[in-house]
Amino acid sequence: MKHITFVAVLLTFFVPAASAQVDDIMVVVPHETPDKQLPMGDDALGAAGPRGLVTREVYRERRLRLLTHMRENGYSAAVIFNDTRNSPSGGPDRSGLDFYYLTGIEHEPGAALLLDPDADQYTESLYLPMLDVEDHVWHGERSALGRELELSTGFARVRRLGSLPGALASAILTGESQQAVFLGPVVGYTSPIPKQLEVLRDATSRIPGTSVALDREILPAMRQAKDDLEIELTRRAIANTAAGLRAGMSQVEPGMTEFQLRTIIETAFHVEGSRRLAFGSIVGSGPNSCVLHYRGEHDHRVMGAGELVLCDVGAEVENYAADITRTFPVSGTFTPRQREVYEVVLRAADEAINAVRPGITFRELNDIARGVIEAAGYTDDMRHGLGHFLGLYVHDAGNYHLPLTPGTIITIEPGIYLPDEDIGIRIEDDILVTETGFEVLTTGIPRTPDEIEAFMGEGR
Ligand code: GLY
Ligand code: MN
Ligand code: MN
Repeated sequence: MKHITFVAVLLTFFVPAASAQVDDIMVVVPHETPDKQLPMGDDALGAAGPRGLVTREVYRERRLRLLTHMRENGYSAAVIFNDTRNSPSGGPDRSGLDFYYLTGIEHEPGAALLLDPDADQYTESLYLPMLDVEDHVWHGERSALGRELELSTGFARVRRLGSLPGALASAILTGESQQAVFLGPVVGYTSPIPKQLEVLRDATSRIPGTSVALDREILPAMRQAKDDLEIELTRRAIANTAAGLRAGMSQVEPGMTEFQLRTIIETAFHVEGSRRLAFGSIVGSGPNSCVLHYRGEHDHRVMGAGELVLCDVGAEVENYAADITRTFPVSGTFTPRQREVYEVVLRAADEAINAVRPGITFRELNDIARGVIEAAGYTDDMRHGLGHFLGLYVHDAGNYHLPLTPGTIITIEPGIYLPDEDIGIRIEDDILVTETGFEVLTTGIPRTPDEIEAFMGEGR
């Protein structure tokens, strides 16, 4: 709590104020990605349990860690919803993925996880929406309550949502502290009250002497520290994204529209096995390379010889996102002026990346990159933050005010935008913080001007 500092001016520049989370206040999130939907499942509803690389046991271990934390802090109850509501701006509420992070369940919108650390028997239980008898016609079969559902979800107790209010009241009452805990995020007054908070306040208002505490650090901290499986999924998302960028670089030519280039890149993601984009691709050429939120719905511009095209794209694998930007010349060769500006951005990126190690803060990395850009005379021309956490969602949960720790994945993405010259350049890489320093995960994609020109020159 002591870390809340309102730097609202900074925040509102990068993120529409309506979707502002207090957790973001210290953050310089580069560009929000407003059209990404929460994961909603990939086929008929069926059995709810996790089915990817991350197993039921891993999800259960995460819940046990959270239960231990609750016990140590004297919290008697917490409830986490599979909350698929998006923020008013249409941007994603990253906390919606807390439920996924703890259960691996993508389906079942509105489902809830109840944590009751002092319970005699069931310290964790899952509450699913009611079955509608007509529903299978539209969405396929869903499992009825019973052993099969318990096995598939990894929960010893699975119930319907109708029994949640009673179970929550009894969890709060049986706890020693009789204190429920809201696990965040804290939002500004223009955002809807998070369902989790609404429910805890309603429940405690009916039981005199009970209250709601706030712990907005634990889930971002858990999500920030990636385990090996999460890192592996991110590597796969990055590999698919790299294939898309390479396809784009080798096929782009003057006369092609931005939309056609975007389609080449995104098609490669899918061919490589990614089912979804991590966010709406940004493919902007010429003047559009300077538009930070340039979106797919506008990208009908025909690209010309001598122009740059900025491609900020990401594929997703099992909800883990890649987020990579490459800026390259449409005709395969940089002009001297484009190369000059590119070299400054590259130096800013490299100096920031080389400084990544446990203990450094986002703010320090930002200062390093900005220092390079300012020294080159472009003080006002990088109008966004340096980077963000990456993982579940492109802007993952994490504690931006704390020093970085091993296992964290971040983006480093400096840019310089000169609309008067139709030059917008951003270079974005995904970096893993290791025990001793860093690992650049975004390998295998041409990055320096020489590498880009050589790659684009092959076969032309
Ligand atoms: N593509 C969104 C971002 O770079 O943050
Ligand atoms: Mn990006
Ligand atoms: Mn990014």
